[in-house]
Amino acid sequence: MSEPILELHGVNKSFGPVHVLHDVDLAVRAGEVTALVGDNGAGKSTLVKCIAGIHAADSGEVRFRGKPVHIHGPRDAADLGIEVVYQDLALADNLDIVQNMFLGRERGSAWLLDEASMEQAARQTLASLSVRTVKSVRTPVSALSGGQRQTVAIAKSVLWDSKVVLLDEPTAALGVAQTRQVLDLVRRLAEQGLGVVLISHNMADVFEVSDRIAVLYLGRMAAEVQTKDVTHGQVVELITAGRSGDLGLARPDTAVV
Ligand SMILES: Nc1ncnc2c1ncn2[C@@H]1O[C@H](COP(=O)(O)OP(=O)(O)O)[C@@H](O)[C@H]1O
Ligand SMILES: [Mg+2]
Repeated sequence: MSEPILELHGVNKSFGPVHVLHDVDLAVRAGEVTALVGDNGAGKSTLVKCIAGIHAADSGEVRFRGKPVHIHGPRDAADLGIEVVYQDLALADNLDIVQNMFLGRERGSAWLLDEASMEQAARQTLASLSVRTVKSVRTPVSALSGGQRQTVAIAKSVLWDSKVVLLDEPTAALGVAQTRQVLDLVRRLAEQGLGVVLISHNMADVFEVSDRIAVLYLGRMAAEVQTKDVTHGQVVELITAGRSGDLGLARPDTAVV
């Protein structure tokens, strides 16, 4: 078992009077897919946004490669190699794939963008992820299918020598074949040595692609288990009740406020 590349300890986050995350611990390991699951409103997206520097946690510690780090904004997260792919992904429709992958991080000077080098890097990244469904990197994003868009968004996240990629429900809006493509890609990210966190509602997807499952229940980490050690039924019970047999919160009822 590898050392975690990213660890959270005792993370709390409130929005005004609403205490969303309670003393959350999480470990993300390089080369593994950690599925982050939980009911609607459990705090999954909030947790991801705290890691990404979108939200500031109220308390708790984040460690990267064993060292405490302070993530005060998306820039800090990016500097560590932490990238997020959001469900409502921010690709610009009117731009092509290369332009989207380099948006905000263009190469070259403001006067002369190095189009050739960006185009080559975009192509190489897609090839390294075995993405074959995209014909030209100069295709406008508006012409891509949902699965292709998600593929571009994920490829964009690994273009920057990323170490950890967090995917917030990347397959929520996709059909069966497109979901297949994206899950294959998620697996490949881990095979390339990245630490991957996948938020998903789909138990079949979670069991197919993850090495570990972390279950949030009403903002508390109910369980972090190896996927091979649990059944679908146990995970569903952890999601809905915070507890399943010996697993989960000792007193899930006290989590209800
Ligand atoms: N910016 C915000 N301001 C106030 N409350 C928020 C904000 N973001 C999320 N919440 C609340 O935090 C809780 C967890 O939300 P979220 O992290 O989106 O859950 P999940 O992604 O697991 O469905 C919800 O009760 C939600 O209403
Ligand atoms: Mg969410």
